[in-house]
Formats: sequence, structure tokens, C-alpha cells
Amino acid sequence: MTLADKIRQLISEAQEKIAAADSAETIEALRVQFLGRKGGLAELTGLLGQIDPAEKPEAGREANRAKNEITALLDARTAAVKASGASGSGAGAAKLDLTLPGTAPATGGLHPITQVVDEICDIFYRLGFQIVSGPEMETDYYNFEALNIPADHSSRDDLATFYLENGKLLRSQTSTVQTRIMEKERPPVKVLAPGRVYRPDATDATHSFMFHQIEGLFVDEKVSFADLKGVLLAFAKQFFGSDVKLRFRPHFFPFTEPSAEVDVSCGLCKGSGCRSCGQKGWLEILGAGMIHPNVLRAVKISPEKYSGFAFGFGVERIAMRRWGVNDIRLFYENDLRFLRQFSA
Ligand code: PHE
Repeated sequence: MTLADKIRQLISEAQEKIAAADSAETIEALRVQFLGRKGGLAELTGLLGQIDPAEKPEAGREANRAKNEITALLDARTAAVKASGASGSGAGAAKLDLTLPGTAPATGGLHPITQVVDEICDIFYRLGFQIVSGPEMETDYYNFEALNIPADHSSRDDLATFYLENGKLLRSQTSTVQTRIMEKERPPVKVLAPGRVYRPDATDATHSFMFHQIEGLFVDEKVSFADLKGVLLAFAKQFFGSDVKLRFRPHFFPFTEPSAEVDVSCGLCKGSGCRSCGQKGWLEILGAGMIHPNVLRAVKISPEKYSGFAFGFGVERIAMRRWGVNDIRLFYENDLRFLRQFSA
């Protein structure tokens, strides 16, 4: 075998081994083995001086070819291994599998309370209500006085309202927006005001120091209690389903007269009583009534010419009924295992 033959043999050996290499480490070892200072090619070219001068030109050419070809093979293999993502060697090395599902980007979702607020606003918007808002930090005037709430009313107690050091307070109801809107707009006024309210209640499964209400207000000539019932029933049918029933129970609010608390029939037992509704058959969802003449007088709207109704939803209660959530605190703890269940 001539030296040129031996070099050609080295090339085929290199081709075989490089093709089988599946990691950067193995490829590097082969580079040393074939092209290193003490590697296979170096060893063979070291023999050039000892062979028959007639064989030298061919052996020289083959040696050059070996260097170029093996270098190219090593480089190509390195690129291929890198592209397939393999880092280690052997059985554990990762391979690129184009049939695997892609990695979905993490997307957010709307909080369940936000979803309920949006849905309710959407229905009332279609009933002709304009969506408005008011501040959470309020004055005594908007939270109580303009709403005909007397100075000695229990809701003014500092056990029932958060008072701030700047003399203001955190609103305890969205009814504040009634006065704020009627100061700016003349009848007809038809608005819906969702927002947060605050009360210093001890936290438990059904109470939170912060929760959400949605206030509704409609003032015009000849607005009657029948209009209030019609609007609330139209809403309830769209939100809860067409077989829902409403129950109006007489109640007292200083800013409405007459006043009522309104219940919806239980979605599970349809009013006959079950465990979900505590055997009551009904769930209270809002307070409502005809606007008290003193509230209209406070904003210089004549109670002789105009009348109106107002209502205030408790959003958390509605969300709890909808999804069977039995603890209000779940809405505020930011536990993604809970919240993810509501993302569409
Ligand atoms: N603001 C009352 C509450 O927080 C609800 C209500 C609103 C009642 C509007 C009547 C009219 O309980």
C-alpha cells in the first residue's frame, strides 16, 4: 500500500466516524484524532520524506485533500449537531422533533369580577344606559348628605365607613355617582356606574373590606316603579336566562322611596329551595327604589316635574352564584390556580 493509499484510507475512516458523531465533544475529539499535531494525518505526512520520490507528488496531493475534506466534514457536522439542539452525547441527547406542539405564549385573561361587570354593563348599554364612573375617595356630602342620609345614621359610624386623615372617606356605595352625574346633566339621565366600594367589615366567606357595586340611575318625566321592574326584568332575563323570576321585597333606603330589595330565583332549584340557596329559593342581588325627592332637590331637579329610579347591584354575589364560588376571598387572593379557571 502506498502512502497515498494510506491517506485515502484515513479519509474514509474520518468520513465514517464524523458521520456518526452526535455531539460537539465527539466532533472535537475526532478533530484531534485526525488533524491534531499528533493525529493521523500528521503521522502520515511525517512519512513523506522517507518514501520514493516518484510517489511523493501523489501522496502530497492526497495529504492536502485529506486536510481540506476532513476539516469540511467536521465543520458541517458541527453545524448539523448545533441545529438539532443536541448538547450532550449518546441516548439522552435532545433531538429536534418538528411534530411536537409549539410552546404557547402565556396570555392573560379577564378577572371573573371584571367579566361580570362587563357583561352587566353590556346589557344595560343596550337598554340605553350610558356607562360612567366616580371617584373611590369621596366626601361626606356625596356618600351621605346629598343622599338624604341623616347625621345620626348608622352607616356614618366609623365602624361602617373608612374615614381618611384628609377629611375624606372611601365611598361605601356607588350611589355617590347619582349626585355627581345629576349635578352635571339634566334629565333625561340614564346611567350605569360600576366600581369598587369599601366597608370596614371583618373578612369572612361572604364579606370583604372592598367589593364591587353597579349603580343604575334613570331620571326623566313620568318614570315609574313599573319602569324599574321592567328594566330589571329585561336585564335578569338576558343575564340569568329567560325563565328567571324576580322578587321585590319592601325595604328602606334613605335615598329612595319606596324602596325594595330584589331577589332572583335560584338557578338550580328555580325557587323551590335547595342547598345552593340555603333552602330559600331566592338570592338577594340588589337594592332599588324610586329616587327620594330630597335627592333630586339637592341637585336642583324639580321632584314635581321629574321622577326616577335607582338600583345598586352587588357584583360579587352575582359572580358567586354564577360559578358556584362559596368564598368571596377567592376573588382577591390572586391565586392563579383559581383565576385561570375563568379565562376563556
Ligand atoms: N346603595 C345601596 C347599598 O349599598 C343600594 C341601592 C342603590 C339602593 C340604589 C337603592 C338605590 O346597599
